[in-house]
Amino acid sequence: MKRLPVYFLFLLGLVSCQSAEELKKEQYYVEGYQLYTTNCANCHQDDGKGMANLYPSLTASSQTSDAAKMACLIKNGTVLTTSDTLATRRPMPASKKLTELEIAEIITYVKTKWGNDSVYTSIETVAEALRNCPVKKIRDLRSDKSPSPF
Ligand code: HEC
Repeated sequence: MKRLPVYFLFLLGLVSCQSAEELKKEQYYVEGYQLYTTNCANCHQDDGKGMANLYPSLTASSQTSDAAKMACLIKNGTVLTTSDTLATRRPMPASKKLTELEIAEIITYVKTKWGNDSVYTSIETVAEALRNCPVKKIRDLRSDKSPSPF
């Protein structure tokens, strides 16, 4: 019986650790929801289902599970390969103004809401991803004189 208090303290420690993590996730989710509404819902819609052939659905996207890819996509926009032209592929524009924190919050929202992911995406994850993004950008194709879609 003497051991009970120690055991109890240990359990208490576990519970409070978990709720600090939970709290952070909830903060990111709420902030992410606001940011998604202003920065993404225009195209991908509030329900994340996108719009016909114009904007892909985020609810059934395999990319939604990859935080690093999503971070690069949000910050830099679509990376087009040499076989893409602006006439055949509608690119996603870059959101240069979003900070690493804001991107982490948006990804946490998208992944929690539609990616069946229960872990929040940290600023560190986003910072690391952004250091390693692929480099080819939409502007590399601008020389083909296609009208800009934006
Ligand atoms: C101007 C319209 C527009 C806005 C605003 C926009 N997107 Fe996109 N998004 C697109 C288009 C178009 C694609 C498809 C790009 C492609 O296939 O190259 C896309 C693709 C994606 C994908 C990959 C989906 C897949 O399965 O290929 C994700 C994830 C995504 N967007 C998330 C976001 C988030 C998060 C935001 C807000 C920060 C955002 N988008 C803002 C137009 C937009």
